[in-house]
Amino acid sequence: MSRTWNILVANGPNLRHVGIRDPGTYGVQSMDRLPEIIADLLGIHAESVGLFFFQSNSEGALIDRFELAREQRVDGLVLNAGALTHTSLALADCLAWISIPCVEVHISNVLARENPLRQQSLIGRHCLGVMAGFGLRGYGLAVLALVEHLRSVSKDNQPSGA
Ligand code: DQA
Repeated sequence: MSRTWNILVANGPNLRHVGIRDPGTYGVQSMDRLPEIIADLLGIHAESVGLFFFQSNSEGALIDRFELAREQRVDGLVLNAGALTHTSLALADCLAWISIPCVEVHISNVLARENPLRQQSLIGRHCLGVMAGFGLRGYGLAVLALVEHLRSVSKDNQPSGA
């Protein structure tokens, strides 16, 4: 029987109003469409993925949610930490110790943005990889990459001959 991977998709500050906020940079699609966009990209894999969504403008609330995710044995995180990506050592410390596999996401291509601060990620070294510049579809691509990673790691851990 195939198992279900429980994945928490988390958004940090100023990401609730994507679609209205700076559409030239972040597009016109609302965050409300995220579950549908991810499900479309997952296709048949959607059956084996349980998605949970969380958004907060507060650094502490994000850390509290990630500590809870660890207690709940969530399998993976997809995280767009917004500007906290570039500034929050607290969030980086949290990701380091909870050790839940995480994919960093940015709607915009942060490497191509004007402010060089956006090219720095304090959380990146605690993530499997980064998906940036693909709009809201990047969340779906990140979930796919995460599921692929979780599957391959769990296969490696199967007893031989299983
Ligand atoms: C962002 C990029 C960040 O630099 C910015 O502060 C955001 C959104 C993105 O999704 O492109 O709030 O994380």
